[in-house]
Amino acid sequence: MKNLLLAFCCAAVLSCGSCGKRIAKVDSIDIVPKPASVQSLDGVFELTSGTKIVLLSEDSTLAYSANSLNDMLRDAFGKPLRYAYASEPLSEAINLCLGDLAPEEYTLSITPEEVKITGGSPAGVFYGVQTLRQLLPTSVLQGEKAGIIELPVVEIADKPHFAYRGGMLDVCRHFFSVDDVKRYIDILAMHKLNRFHWHLTEDQGWRIEIKKYPELTKVGAWRDRCSLEPPADPNLKDSVPYGGFYTQEEIKDVVRYANERFITVIPEIEMPGHAMAALASYNYLGCKGEGYEVPSIWGVKADVYCAGKDSTFQFIEGVLDEVIELFPSEYIHIGGDECPKDRWKECQLCQQRIKTEKLKDEFELQSYFVKRIEKYLNDKGRKLIGWDEILEGGLSQTASVMSWRGAAGGIEAAKKGNNVVMTPNSHCYLDYYQTDKIDQEPKAIGGFLPLEKVYSLDPYEGLNADEQKYILGVQGNLWTEFISTLDHAEYMALPRIAAIAEVGWSYDNKDDFDGFKKRVTSLRRLYDAAGYNYGKHAFPADSTAVATVEK
Ligand code: ACM
Ligand code: ZN
Repeated sequence: MKNLLLAFCCAAVLSCGSCGKRIAKVDSIDIVPKPASVQSLDGVFELTSGTKIVLLSEDSTLAYSANSLNDMLRDAFGKPLRYAYASEPLSEAINLCLGDLAPEEYTLSITPEEVKITGGSPAGVFYGVQTLRQLLPTSVLQGEKAGIIELPVVEIADKPHFAYRGGMLDVCRHFFSVDDVKRYIDILAMHKLNRFHWHLTEDQGWRIEIKKYPELTKVGAWRDRCSLEPPADPNLKDSVPYGGFYTQEEIKDVVRYANERFITVIPEIEMPGHAMAALASYNYLGCKGEGYEVPSIWGVKADVYCAGKDSTFQFIEGVLDEVIELFPSEYIHIGGDECPKDRWKECQLCQQRIKTEKLKDEFELQSYFVKRIEKYLNDKGRKLIGWDEILEGGLSQTASVMSWRGAAGGIEAAKKGNNVVMTPNSHCYLDYYQTDKIDQEPKAIGGFLPLEKVYSLDPYEGLNADEQKYILGVQGNLWTEFISTLDHAEYMALPRIAAIAEVGWSYDNKDDFDGFKKRVTSLRRLYDAAGYNYGKHAFPADSTAVATVEK
């Protein structure tokens, strides 16, 4: 019933007096993220089953945009629209072209005669198609038949502010299937996000097949229990081990899928901490060399990679060799966060390394570790990015920092001239509660991060104009200690990822929160049509809404 009401407030279905065809149209132009410029004029373009999709370039990557446009309309017309190639835009057509714009920039022009999407690259055209999707009537989004879809006459010119607009998913604390991951990528793509940060290794599970080290997925991908909460009885185990991993073929498939949607997949291979699954697989990697298991309880673990053994580095290099083959991303994320120094303090080999490398302490040992890996990556033509702990003990001039313990690490890095992705837990941790009525929510890790707070993120705060140049962009992070299904993941990510997307895309002309909320209320039509679960807290009609995730 709620969906039905929503459909009426944002769109209408009428009948044409002369031809009797069902006409569907939207009532207002509400786009998320907010475009740089929207000029709305009188009139409509009548989209019918006879409208062609015309490609004005033979660039094969335009075809994906054309196909996704057709997928959006197929049910409305009961058949796909016809394609054509042309050298000039055609009338009574949706023309997809490349033009002299920045790569992710696009214009969307709807006149009574034609629709024209021009992108600076195929990515720009894809973003234009995403905008057009938000101009479709609710009934069409929901797959109902339409004789005529009336698109409003409008001129939209749009481009992103930040080059890096990301979403992270932790598939280690709980495992998500390839289909789940693709659905998550679809969610990122519809918000014009362009980076998928895939958190692939952790204490609680190693999720990527590495052919040189098969124990990582034979042993490291599995644990005794699904739930990561401490059980009342410590001997309690699930009847079957919990876990999973992606084969290299599956990883290639996901990378290809994301690439079609103009999303770069950045793999995260955690080191030196959060490595229990690796240590359980190959005991020699830890300082003590024995007694490890894949933990079934969440939290930071004292056992980490031994920084004193060369065999640790040989192992990591072997892993990275295969990672580099699988992921074309210029950035490889090496984690770097939450590495307790207890074991290193007690380990003769780690202490020996401190001496021979003339390091001051274990923090400088961590810095040695990260710099050594950075050199390895740089020699292979890749760049290192890590959580803000990589600042501790000294940061190389070329590493990039993902600021998570607030913005302080990012500010410090930018002031040093290092590139930064802003993802402070104060604004970007999508695993935090989105309401203070937590008794009505599925259990979360804590925190309180309502939509409005996410929207208030200023990635440039504390930085002068020169320093701002080092801010690559923003990212929303979804850790999954308490999230075991994609349905729940969607509930946590949506609509907060829309606020991240708008900060990243529309920084220059951001709205006030009420304006954003109005547009997100329209975007919600797409969530409903796609069957995505989402938090209802920010929507006025649902102010009393409670969680729809099974507790
Ligand atoms: C983190 O949340 N430990 C990066
Ligand atoms: Zn050691």
